[in-house]
Amino acid sequence: MTYLLALDQGTSSSRSIVFDAQGQVVAMAQREFRQIYPQPGWVEHDPEEIWQTQLDTAREAIAKAGIRAADVRAIGITNQRETTVVWNRRSGRAIHNAIVWQDRRAEPLCAQLREQGHAERIREATGLVVDAYFSGSKIRWILDHVPDARALAERGDLAFGTVDSWLLWKLSAGRVHATDVSNAARTMLFDVRRNAWDEGLLALLDVPATLLPAVHPSSHVFAESEPDLLGASLPIAGIAGDQQSALFGQACFRAGQAKNTYGTGCFMLMHTGGQFQTSHNGLITTSAAQPDAAPQFALEGSVFIGGAVVQWLRDGLRAISASSEVQSLAESVPDAGGVMFVPAFTGLGAPYWDADARGAIVGLTRGSTVAHIARAALESIAYQSAALLQAMSRDAVAAGAAPVSELRVDGGACVNDLLMQFQADLLGIPVLRPKVIETTALGAAYLAGLATGVWSGLDELAGQWQAERVFHPTLSRDRAEEAMARWERAVRQAVAE
Ligand code: G3P
Repeated sequence: MTYLLALDQGTSSSRSIVFDAQGQVVAMAQREFRQIYPQPGWVEHDPEEIWQTQLDTAREAIAKAGIRAADVRAIGITNQRETTVVWNRRSGRAIHNAIVWQDRRAEPLCAQLREQGHAERIREATGLVVDAYFSGSKIRWILDHVPDARALAERGDLAFGTVDSWLLWKLSAGRVHATDVSNAARTMLFDVRRNAWDEGLLALLDVPATLLPAVHPSSHVFAESEPDLLGASLPIAGIAGDQQSALFGQACFRAGQAKNTYGTGCFMLMHTGGQFQTSHNGLITTSAAQPDAAPQFALEGSVFIGGAVVQWLRDGLRAISASSEVQSLAESVPDAGGVMFVPAFTGLGAPYWDADARGAIVGLTRGSTVAHIARAALESIAYQSAALLQAMSRDAVAAGAAPVSELRVDGGACVNDLLMQFQADLLGIPVLRPKVIETTALGAAYLAGLATGVWSGLDELAGQWQAERVFHPTLSRDRAEEAMARWERAVRQAVAE
């Protein structure tokens, strides 16, 4: 039997999954780790804890699968993106905690870059908006604030990596310092059309090139793991950032195919093939996972508060005592009774981009109950995602392509049937939930398996993908458009606040 081991290093936990050659889950292990909040707006992880929890889960998953390490054909890595680790190449130790993607400390530098008029040049090369979300300004912060860091960097003693790169370094016992294009694309230092670091941007951000990892396609034999770690030397043959990995795991390989991941936030990506497409609707352009050296792109948009709205119902409003209760509470009423909930707790992302917007619950009447609010909260996840998909379709049509014709879904909240049906109703296109919803990890396994001959190519993988359930739209387009118009009115109220 052939097995693949996927390491899925996420923001709140490290997970490892063993897949078989049919892409089915054989065994899984998961460990949470500490979130460190040194001050408001700052979020850090301990890189050693990331590594240790990841290694522990890899060992546990292999043990649970009842296989020998040598039965694993290859390892794939997928990871929380943008999170920045800088370590000393000699000691192998990080010189600062990892600065997590959510961390806002580098915003003053980004504001400066925007004021100096660099936004257009940066977007042109990287596809990104200038924001503290991306790694470049986080690296600069470390170089400016950790004693001796700049001198060490100039001597070539420091290495930067996103989490994939850090794990690869550890797995290869410090022999390999590399990353893949989909992670490099999140640094604001990478020219995504040429698949190369951008010298001009390195100079602009004052980041020495000596820090940077080598960049390879996502499906590539990056290194062999140190035999002592897992019990055999295994090729690490796939790497992709988690959202691009999920797009790959959903077998979205062609222009126009899109997926949405319903987690704490939601991340929607639409493949645009070999074409770098600039959004006119507030989305970013990013590298998709690349099976070979040819550049592949996607448009991406995110919803900041997705499943997190359910946590707020539980912890803030105390309307439910466990997240799993939300579906039955929401289903206890036939609809939201005219209530609209805009969960702009931390501002609004694409396509609205308003950092100052705040949450709003509108349309309350004397008859409104907590069940209507719960239903409206759940529906807000679908409304925000629908606004993103509409933006993507507008971009697709502007580029002469067809609008998105179906949406593949994954992530924790995609198991909620009520939410998925409402999503299909709003969008007017089928929403497809796959049999294997661990698509993030599956994408990394696919990439690793492709590089090691487990699968012949993309067609074989596309043939493996199967829907568990298809949600067809049942609402008339008039009613759906009316609902979206009411949502947009509610958003304007949140923005006005
Ligand atoms: O861009 C951030 C994203 O990659 C984080 O994903 O699933 O770890 O929250 P997740």
